[in-house]
Amino acid sequence: MSDGWVDRWLGACSDLAALERSNPMTDAVIDEISGRMIRIGDRWLADFASCNYLGFDLEPNIIAAVPGFLERWGTHPSWSRLLGSPVLYEQIESRLSELLGCEDTLVLPTITLIHLAVIPILAHGGTIFLDRRAHKTIYDGCQLARAHGATVKRFEFEDPDDLERLLRHDHSASRLICMDGVNSMTGNAPDLNAFARVAREYDAILYVDDAHGFGIIGERSAGELCPYGLRGNSITRHFGESYENIVLVGGFSKAYSSLAAFVACPTDLKRVLKTAAPPYLYSGPSPIASLATVLAGFDLNEKRGDVIRADLWEKTNRVLRRLDRLGIHTPNTSGFPIVEVPLARHEDIDAVGRFLFDRGIYVTLAAYPLVPKSEVGFRIQITAANTRAEIDHLLDVLGEVANRFDLQPARQAEFAA
Ligand SMILES: Cc1ncc(COP(=O)(O)O)c(C=O)c1O
Repeated sequence: MSDGWVDRWLGACSDLAALERSNPMTDAVIDEISGRMIRIGDRWLADFASCNYLGFDLEPNIIAAVPGFLERWGTHPSWSRLLGSPVLYEQIESRLSELLGCEDTLVLPTITLIHLAVIPILAHGGTIFLDRRAHKTIYDGCQLARAHGATVKRFEFEDPDDLERLLRHDHSASRLICMDGVNSMTGNAPDLNAFARVAREYDAILYVDDAHGFGIIGERSAGELCPYGLRGNSITRHFGESYENIVLVGGFSKAYSSLAAFVACPTDLKRVLKTAAPPYLYSGPSPIASLATVLAGFDLNEKRGDVIRADLWEKTNRVLRRLDRLGIHTPNTSGFPIVEVPLARHEDIDAVGRFLFDRGIYVTLAAYPLVPKSEVGFRIQITAANTRAEIDHLLDVLGEVANRFDLQPARQAEFAA
């Protein structure tokens, strides 16, 4: 390993490599958890880096449901899905299709695997229109499609007009648009109605990864308890869209705290994927405990999901209001529980991370090259399981960070609470 490639690789992402080596907020070993508090060595910190938005990972009813499934099914089915699937998959897919209001769904272990498998199939050697800021896992699926003969063209982030400009000049037989739903850094959703209109007008498939939105945002209604909407049935329903020309991808590994993911698509496409998507044919399945927590999660979502989401909205709102009062910029204009705080100077990231750690706050550090230098900062994720006291403490520490470090100033009344 000494021909220099390791050093060259680490040099290319030196900011991140330095953090990984020395900052306590990266690559940590978590020794213990208690609610949303985590212990690293002898320090207890409030965890604001979890994507378990609904707190289902700690929910007693969900935890209690698991042993019964293990007794009936053992720990792991082991068959690839083409060989055979426990009936639990059928139950999940049918409940999921009902929740999303789509024709059909297919469950596979992770979104990463879905992108690698499904994007090349849908691209079909034609043109992929890729959102310039799409998640890395979408990029990887597009790279694989390119190796299979597809052409990749990139359009500007959140810009349906730029997408339309590219589509107008494209004459390939098949067109696929790939983008995120709720963005994993800004917490904002794209204007799905505008993108869906463009997709339909140019006979393209709009492929949307709503890893973060699923479970949180959902259909709008006069009776909704908060602006996330009802039922957590994802971005398509949130924008009142049909599934015409839309393939929705989502996962259970965030809001539902489980290891499984899905494609919402017409039954015909599902049939194709069953023989063409490698993870259906060759990969091991999700463990039984994960299938069990998805099913128990559906039950809880039906019973209390909307109340939990209203509580999450309120908690997030407190954090956003605090930043607003401190005059600190965050790209979040939606109220979604992802709140990124960019620094004025990207070089401060190590010191800011250490300061937050020392003050007992655990967040995600967004370092270069994970994000552009102008967006280097820290990302706070709020979950329903964070207590009021943990959030009070976070609000105090945010004030201290603002006094000690240069953060980017708010651009104007950014968040309409
Ligand atoms: C937008 C987005 N897509 C995909 C993934 C990966 O999901 P999975 O763990 O199911 O592969 C993530 C995880 O952070 C994500 O944020």
